[in-house]
Amino acid sequence: MNKTIIARTAAEMEEIGANLAPTIADGMVVSLIGPLGSGKTTLIKGLARGLLVTDIVVSPSYLLAREYQGRIPLHHIDAYRVTTLGELAEVGLDELLPPTSGVTAVEWPSRVEGIVDLSDIIIKIELLDDQARRVQISGN
Ligand SMILES: Nc1ncnc2c1ncn2[C@@H]1O[C@H](COP(=O)(O)OP(=O)(O)OP(=O)(O)O)[C@@H](O)[C@H]1O
Ligand SMILES: [Mg+2]
Repeated sequence: MNKTIIARTAAEMEEIGANLAPTIADGMVVSLIGPLGSGKTTLIKGLARGLLVTDIVVSPSYLLAREYQGRIPLHHIDAYRVTTLGELAEVGLDELLPPTSGVTAVEWPSRVEGIVDLSDIIIKIELLDDQARRVQISGN
């Protein structure tokens, strides 16, 4: 899988996440790469909806990770403040990486060495003019 989509609004970004949900299988890791405010959390909100999560998804920022119950569990990690896998282990988040059940979606995956490489799906978001974003989805 390798496709590029333009999201002109936050709603369109959510839709990209929702459309991804049927392709998600247990144990997958999804990396979301893009600058601050580019829409990573917004896309994950849509993914959560597609996975039939009914709770409201909020940015995990200070908690680093949140878990939601859906068709399969959704683990949402924000690695912005994490720099090493060791630090991830300290807060117990390494348990969320395979072979964890459910899907793990990681914002700022490049902060932790190895996460991008083990990801099944990599989503790159670029800011274009106005509110538009270019979203590139590639599967491993
Ligand atoms: N086309 C678009 N796609 C996504 N978000 C958009 C778009 N246009 C405007 N927005 C707005 O941009 C913001 C994106 O915020 P979001 O929290 O999803 O970004 P983020 O990449 O998770 O940021 P952070 O790196 O701080 O975690 C939201 O306020 C959203 O409404
Ligand atoms: Mg975010």
